[in-house]
Formats: sequence, structure tokens, C-alpha cells
Amino acid sequence: MSAFVVLGAQWGDEGKGKMTDYLAEEAQVIVRFQGGNNAGHTVEVGDKQYKLHLIPSGILYDNKLNIIGNGVVVDPKALFTEIDYLEGEGVKVTPEKLIVSDRAHVIMPYHKVLDKLKEQARGKNDIGTTGKGIGPCYTDKFERSGIRICDLIDEETFKEKLKENIEAKNKYIVNVLNGEALNYDEILTEYLELANRLRAYVQDTSVKLYDEIKADKTVLFEGAQGMLLDIDYGTYPYVTSSNTTACGVASGSGIGPTMVTNAVGIAKAYTTRVGKGPFPTELDNEIGEWIREKGHEYGVTTGRSRRCGWLDAVILKTTVRVSGLTSLCVTKIDTLAGLDKLKICVGYKYDNKVIDYFPASLKDLAKCEPIYEEFEGWGEEVAEARSYDELPLNAKKYLERIEELTGTKISIVGVGPRRDQTIRVTKEL
Ligand code: GDP
Ligand code: IMO
Ligand code: MG
Repeated sequence: MSAFVVLGAQWGDEGKGKMTDYLAEEAQVIVRFQGGNNAGHTVEVGDKQYKLHLIPSGILYDNKLNIIGNGVVVDPKALFTEIDYLEGEGVKVTPEKLIVSDRAHVIMPYHKVLDKLKEQARGKNDIGTTGKGIGPCYTDKFERSGIRICDLIDEETFKEKLKENIEAKNKYIVNVLNGEALNYDEILTEYLELANRLRAYVQDTSVKLYDEIKADKTVLFEGAQGMLLDIDYGTYPYVTSSNTTACGVASGSGIGPTMVTNAVGIAKAYTTRVGKGPFPTELDNEIGEWIREKGHEYGVTTGRSRRCGWLDAVILKTTVRVSGLTSLCVTKIDTLAGLDKLKICVGYKYDNKVIDYFPASLKDLAKCEPIYEEFEGWGEEVAEARSYDELPLNAKKYLERIEELTGTKISIVGVGPRRDQTIRVTKEL
């Protein structure tokens, strides 16, 4: 296997960071291909916890190449904050270990301002974004006025593009959104300094990645966000602005889709969501509260509490279909220990029919009523289990039903946040 992808199978925060770190042992190259520092990936190694936003989770190893691909939107200030944080924790982040695509788009200060002002203007219809400037940066990319890393590190081009952008953005910020104008000179000075520091990390990462694959290196693509935050197949407009599904890998890293052989969907044993938008199996009650507390369901990037609900097989089936999953990894099975009864949503009742896919229209989705199957819980904690056989019978029944409902085998089960709290069910992913 030369290249495989780890993807969020729900609404993000499924444990992609932990699983990337765990699987990075089997790879030499780890690549982020979409999203930006809206992501918050937690990795625990021994008694140390690391929070990563932009840098691939493979960085914790000494000898892996980490790539920030062209599909990622890069906030250079956030990048260096993260590099400095990691270096402070004793993790080396040299240009030998981390390279950044010259084609990636740069998140500029006006993108962050626009993100916040647009959210305010939406009022009660706000999306609940992370405020990191992600949507406005991708908007500029597709509108073809964005600034790429290759533009940032070329002083003349940067000056020109910054001038054009600041003029246009200030008009919009001041006249339409009632915000304050940004200062060209201040941004120029700050970003030229950042560009000087960034230059050593910049490369045509598509060429490098292709060479690595041709040299028989194993590549792990680390997804950010999750299936239902995908710009095309998520719960639009309550989504992020990139393709979070497997299709994003090729366009976001510059290699052909035929090079990716396996796709692992990371799914929590229940469902969570941060930010606004529909959530059919949400538990707005004491069980949801219990899961939030036991599972420490608070956002890594914004600190917001995560909404919690039952596992939804309709969501997982959607991910299997859209991303062509070859296996599932079910995380946080340990969190559910202690619940008397558990439920899995196996379909939606919609207009007197049963459907097992997500309707495009949110109006139609609002009419969908989850159909549940009930399961007996397990009292025993499973954090110490290291093989599938050590799991309680009822936990195994729950997992086996997920396999049946999705038609997809489970290759990994997570029983805790640490690297070693992982049960490898099958070698093949
Ligand atoms: P990501 O965005 O998908 O990388 O996930 P986050 O890091 O935002 O959230 C997942 C949280 O669950 C983190 O705090 C992880 O340390 C933790 N975690 C991951 N896998 C497991 C697991 O199997 N059991 C438990 N208890 N925690 C886990
Ligand atoms: P990881 O990689 C969970 C959500 C935000 C908001 C919507 C749009 O840690 O799983 P954005 O700032 O992207 O424009 O916000 O997407 N969101 C996430 N939710 N995990 C994430 O990343 C997320 N990244 C964005 O809460 O609802
Ligand atoms: Mg997260």
C-alpha cells in the first residue's frame, strides 16, 4: 500500500489526530490536503498532550516528512505560533521535516476580519465558524484574487497583490459591514517578515510527493473536519469551505486519485457537532450531557462545548459512499461504558418512507425522524483493553452492528486518547 487517507466520518473531532499519529508509524510521509487552522487535532503520547491545528500530526516523529499541501489555507502567523509551540515542547520542526506548498493560499488579516463581520451580519442565521478566516480565504481562491504562498515570498508580487486586495476589502469592510479599515503598511511589514521566515519551508510539494510515492514510500493523508462539513455533501450552508471527503486528496495535494489505495473513516462511537446546523440524533438532555462530560467534548480550537448525540449509521453510510471507505476506525468506545442502553440510528422516516441517505435540502432534513435500534450497554470500562477479544460482549455486538449497517469492516477501535490505547482489529486498512 503506497498511499492511504484518514478521514472524519461525521462532523469533525472524531480522533483523526490520534489515529494519524498512531498510523504514522507505518508511513514515511504525512500530508494535510484541505482546511486550515480551523482544525484542532489532539495527540497524546505517554503523558504528554499536543494540540495541532495546521501541521500534520506526523510531526511528532523525528524521521517523517510532513507536507502542507496546496489545498490547505495557511495562516502564516498561526503556522509560526504552532512551530514555536512545538519547538518549546521539544519537537523539532525543521524544513527537512515540514514543507509547505507554494500553491497553498494565504489567510490574510482581512480574511479573519471578514469571517467575524460576516458572521455578525448573519445574525441568528450565523454558521458558527471558528473565526479563523477559512471561508473568506477560500472565497478569494475561487474568485481568483487570492494570495498564494509563492506570491507572498516574492516581495514585488506580494506588494502588488496586497494593495489590490486591501483596497477592495476595505471598501467592503467599511461600507457594507461597518467595520474598520485595515492598514496596508502595517500588514506589509509584518507579512514580509513572515515571508522571510517561511521561505525555507516552501516547495512544489506535488513534485516532492510524487517522487516519494515513486520511491515506494508510504504516504498518509490526514483529513481535517468531517464528512458532513464537506462543502458539497455536508449540511450546507452549515459546513466548512473545502472538500473534506477523499476526493479532496487529489486536488489538495497534486497527485492522481488512483494513487490512493485505502480510505479509513474515523467515526466516534457516538456523534458530536460544534457550531450550528442540523443534527438529527442530537441528545439535548441528560444523556447528551453525560456523554459530553465523560468524553470531554469541548472544542480544541474554540473551546466551545460540543453537541452530543447517538451514533447515526446514515451519516456513516454517506461517508462510505462518498469517500469510498475501505474500513472504519471507531474511536471513544470507552466513553460509552456505563450507559444502560445505547441507540444507533439506522435510517430516517421521511414522508412515510424510510431513507438511508442525507437529503440535500435542510427543509427535507428537518422532516426526517431518526429510526433507532436499541442496544444493551456494558458496565465495564475498556480503557485497558488491548485486543478485540478483551472487549465486553455488548461492546462487540455494538461494533458488529456498525459493520453490518455500513457494510464496512472495522480495522481499528480506540479505547482512550493515548497512542497505546488502540486495538488493531485488522492489519489491512
Ligand atoms: P480530531 O479533530 O478528529 O483530531 O479530534 P479532536 O482532537 O478534536 O477530538 C478528539 C478527542 O478525543 C481528543 O481529545 C482525543 O485525545 C480524544 N480521543 C481520540 N480517540 C479517543 C478514544 O478512543 N478514546 C478517548 N477517550 N478519547 C479519544
Ligand atoms: P477538526 O479537524 C469540528 C466547523 C465549525 C463550523 C463550520 C464552519 O478538528 O475535526 P469554519 O471555521 O471552517 O468556516 O467553520 O465547521 N468546524 C469544525 N468542527 N472539527 C473541526 O475540525 C472543524 N473545523 C470547522 O465549528 O460549524
Ligand atoms: Mg478536532
